[in-house]
Amino acid sequence: MAREMILVLDFGGQYNQLIARRVRENNVYCEVHTALSMEKIRKLNPAGIILTGGPQSVYASDSLLPPVELFSLGVPVLGICYGAQAMAHVLGGEVKPATVSEYGRTEFETVSASELFKGVEKSSVVWMSHTDRITAAPDNFTATATTANCPIAAMEDAAKNFYAVQFHPEVVHTVEGKKIFSNFVDICGCKRDWKMSSFVVDTIAQLKNKIGGGKVLCALSGGVDSSVAAVLLSKAVGKNLTCVFVDHGLLRKNEAAQVAEAFSHFDLNFIQVDAGERFLSKLSGIVDPERKRKIIGEEFIRVFEEVSKKIGAVDYLVQGTIYPDVIESGLGKSAVIKSHHNVGGLPDFVDFKEIVEPLRLLFKDEVREAGRELGLPEEIVSRQPFPGPGLGIRIIGEVTAEKVKLVQDADAIYREEIDKAGIKHLAQYFAALTNMRSVGVMGDGRTYDFAIALRAVLTSDFMTAEAAQIPWDVLSRAANRIVNEVKGVNRVLYDCTSKPPATIEFE
Ligand code: XMP
Repeated sequence: MAREMILVLDFGGQYNQLIARRVRENNVYCEVHTALSMEKIRKLNPAGIILTGGPQSVYASDSLLPPVELFSLGVPVLGICYGAQAMAHVLGGEVKPATVSEYGRTEFETVSASELFKGVEKSSVVWMSHTDRITAAPDNFTATATTANCPIAAMEDAAKNFYAVQFHPEVVHTVEGKKIFSNFVDICGCKRDWKMSSFVVDTIAQLKNKIGGGKVLCALSGGVDSSVAAVLLSKAVGKNLTCVFVDHGLLRKNEAAQVAEAFSHFDLNFIQVDAGERFLSKLSGIVDPERKRKIIGEEFIRVFEEVSKKIGAVDYLVQGTIYPDVIESGLGKSAVIKSHHNVGGLPDFVDFKEIVEPLRLLFKDEVREAGRELGLPEEIVSRQPFPGPGLGIRIIGEVTAEKVKLVQDADAIYREEIDKAGIKHLAQYFAALTNMRSVGVMGDGRTYDFAIALRAVLTSDFMTAEAAQIPWDVLSRAANRIVNEVKGVNRVLYDCTSKPPATIEFE
């Protein structure tokens, strides 16, 4: 089925992922590709093309430029920053280094009527980040907007639907950015009918077609990405899919049961391996965080390896790779590299023909939406990120069965109190067990028990994070319940550090 799509040609700019987002927010499907041949572009049959920003100069000997034939396809083209300069250059205009580079928020003014700026305020703020600029528009183009240092901040050949903007409409600081994308989608004549339900139906059909009667294996972590990928595959190949869920005993309270329950509703082979004791014995006496991580990762692979050998010849391996992973790893890199990124080193040893990544074009919130569409329960769909080594890196020092139980119970109470308070904006929140014991008093007796640390962070990229301000009454309720209900804990601390200098996890 032909799907209406806008093609984003990637020239390496740092905001390119956002361009795809902005298009999809308009219910139009969108793909980002690098250096496509005209043959491939024609095959994709885009309703419109966006040329992105990039770090190069159009005059550099190795600069990537759009093929000139692209402008004969008869589809609207929007050039952004470097993409705008590349359009000017390829179509016979002139680009030169700007006397003054513009970075950041910049006053911008439209100077003539334009479909691209329909409904846009005459003066507004845009986000600029460039050293070169367009100094002469190609024939038949008119300048449609200016800034103090950029007489051609936007230009267009309206008859051919070619538009170019020197600024970055995809960045939130460009106040009218969303409107500009919406206008471009209209210029492309898009019907705006891309919905998650159509993605799900199309993907299942494509997977059926590709895999036929082949055997598929999925390493299921219970996280949202691998869960949604597994359910998509189960709808496509049913019992030919085997999901291997390794419970390393370091999951959150009731998590293993929730995952097993959720997957009991789908037509697939679900193998749960309860390997908790095995992991604990490997971790016995180990206190170094890196060694703990390595042992957990290695053991996970060994368990998975044993199960997959029993299953026998597997044709395909499912990975829950999502679009940010693909873009961050560099478009066009091999899927095997990402399998390491996602499942912590899986698996050179499984004899499979190919890796299947049904979510590789979706953003995280789209993956969640697909999960809802597929009928996965909300506890799985809206799950916060949870590290592969699990509670093993939320227990400082040696991991024992008793400590796992302590941190599971404290964490469940904390999450329950946060949920009851209706706090929804946290990127991640959890309890960790410090390796510290201190003196307390309970009843009339002295205690010498563990301190639990509570953490909650705000972040969008998880590379940096700030500690969230949790209302005091919520913290104090959680703390009271933890010391009263979790035997072995007599003190609760709140972690106020940001990342850096701390990290989100404790180890
Ligand atoms: P840190 O502690 O490095 O965590 O600030 C950043 C984000 O990464 C998650 N994390 C992991 N996820 N395997 C994973 O799948 C891991 O080994 C791992 N270590 C940390 C962490 O939960 C946070 O979201």
